[in-house]
Amino acid sequence: MPVRHFLTLADLSRDELNSLITRATELKSLQRRNVIHEPLKNKVLAMVFEKSSTRTRVSFEAGMIQLGGGAIFLSPRDTQLGRGEPVADTARVLSRMVDAIMIRTFAHDTVVELAEYADVPVINALTDDHHPCQLLADIQTYVEHRGSIEGKTVTWVGDGNNMCHSYMQAAQQFGFKLNIACPEAYEPKVDIMSAWGNNSEVIHDPATACKNVDLVVTDVWASMGQEGEADDRNKVFKPYQVNAELMAHAKSDALFMHCLPAHRGEEISAEVIDGSQSVVWDEAGNRLHAQKALLEFLIPHTKN
Ligand code: CP
Ligand code: NVA
Repeated sequence: MPVRHFLTLADLSRDELNSLITRATELKSLQRRNVIHEPLKNKVLAMVFEKSSTRTRVSFEAGMIQLGGGAIFLSPRDTQLGRGEPVADTARVLSRMVDAIMIRTFAHDTVVELAEYADVPVINALTDDHHPCQLLADIQTYVEHRGSIEGKTVTWVGDGNNMCHSYMQAAQQFGFKLNIACPEAYEPKVDIMSAWGNNSEVIHDPATACKNVDLVVTDVWASMGQEGEADDRNKVFKPYQVNAELMAHAKSDALFMHCLPAHRGEEISAEVIDGSQSVVWDEAGNRLHAQKALLEFLIPHTKN
């Protein structure tokens, strides 16, 4: 069987993605009932982090342990990758020792190259262009609260960044409409817009973009690697804060999501993120279950 990777949401079919979401909720139920489920006994995941993480690291590591395997955290500070060993060489070495490789890095091309040279599944745990694992958790969370997301309308408020790109892919893969409320010059990348823009529409005015929608999502204004632009971005993005006034344009039962970490008073008001429409804690918790479903799907194992 050829090795499958998960670099973007385009790597799985619509049916495979929907099955993963269903499986994630099943795995959540097993865990809540304290049922031991260890299909990945003795399997090892290498986790390469070139950017910071709380949720992604803990959910992948805890997930591998719960599935019967283990995970190794690798940072550029103390691996040869950080001293210039080529990604292709790292891929070939790790493939001989572990059963899957997860990587969080800057350039998306790095994960593409890693996958090209790896003989084991490679999982994108965030690049400058995509964050597909977060989308698995977001869709799972929507489905658990409101049922199928197919035919619904979601509004992305803020930067046309990695999360926005993954939302655009999700819109096509899961069949929902995506409004993108971003300032001019902060639109999604042109190549991603032309490849994955079918179900997406840029509407610069946030109130218009949120009118009558089912889900409102935002993210930080300055992503990892853009810290130097934070002051300028804070000014440009000010009208794009998700607050009660903006949420009032959405449906009365609309949900609010944020991949976290959040900056209260910047992209999100405390009253919304800590309010009744917010499902951000379920969303964060579902990282664990959605990625366990992904690991179970990607890593060959004997069923138990
Ligand atoms: N949402 C998310 O990926 O969080 P971390 O950066 O903490 O992993
Ligand atoms: N867009 C953010 C997401 C963090 C999970 C970043 O890349 O920093």
